[in-house]
Amino acid sequence: MSTADRLSMPLGEAMFSMRAIRRLRPDPVSEEDIRDILEAARQAPSGSNRQPWHFLVVRGDEQRAKLGAIYREAWWSKRRDVGINSPEDIPEEDRVARSAMRLADHFGESPVVILVCSTSGAPVDTTGVIPATQNILLAARALGIGATITSLHPSVQAEVRELFGMPEEAQVVYCVPVGYPQGNFGPVSRKPLSEVASQDRWGDPLPGA
Ligand SMILES: Cc1cc2nc3c(=O)[nH]c(=O)nc-3n(C[C@H](O)[C@H](O)[C@H](O)COP(=O)(O)O)c2cc1C
Repeated sequence: MSTADRLSMPLGEAMFSMRAIRRLRPDPVSEEDIRDILEAARQAPSGSNRQPWHFLVVRGDEQRAKLGAIYREAWWSKRRDVGINSPEDIPEEDRVARSAMRLADHFGESPVVILVCSTSGAPVDTTGVIPATQNILLAARALGIGATITSLHPSVQAEVRELFGMPEEAQVVYCVPVGYPQGNFGPVSRKPLSEVASQDRWGDPLPGA
């Protein structure tokens, strides 16, 4: 069976139920599933078809644990940049931030982490890997596997490059923890179309929205 056949979930169902899955079960994710997810990633479009990406699959216990510690440090560095210094500074009702903080504490326990790296060279074009990253999320969803886009803080890039033997010109753009969800997929909560779309002139309503 081809990868395309294995990812046969209706596209609408995948898109409309694909939410950020931060609580992952410890169950292993097969090498075949990861290969399918990356086969989907490499189908993504890119400027002049340069395909400016490299996907580094982090699966080994030691590498996951080390990445987990670095991720946690990076997460708090990002928070400190915006004046948040401790868990008490994150309101209980800010569910996304609380959930992200929990992920930072458990990042190294993710069964697999896919590092989506840019190979565009300097200056790094981080946007070039976005379509491939979305394909990773969608392919994982089609396989019943959860994932979330996360990013690092610039202060840890050198450490990550060293840990994974990455060449100087490569840079991690996103870290995507992957695993079977503890909770359920979708639905997602988004602004209504009438608020985010116009027709012919900014602010003029889109018919039917
Ligand atoms: C570019 C980008 C960066 C993100 N960075 C993080 C992150 O660092 N940590 C995290 O837990 N979630 C991160 N997310 C996930 C978002 O918080 C999530 O997609 C958003 O809240 C919508 O969640 P939902 O799909 O479950 O509704 C990121 C998402 C995007 C698209």
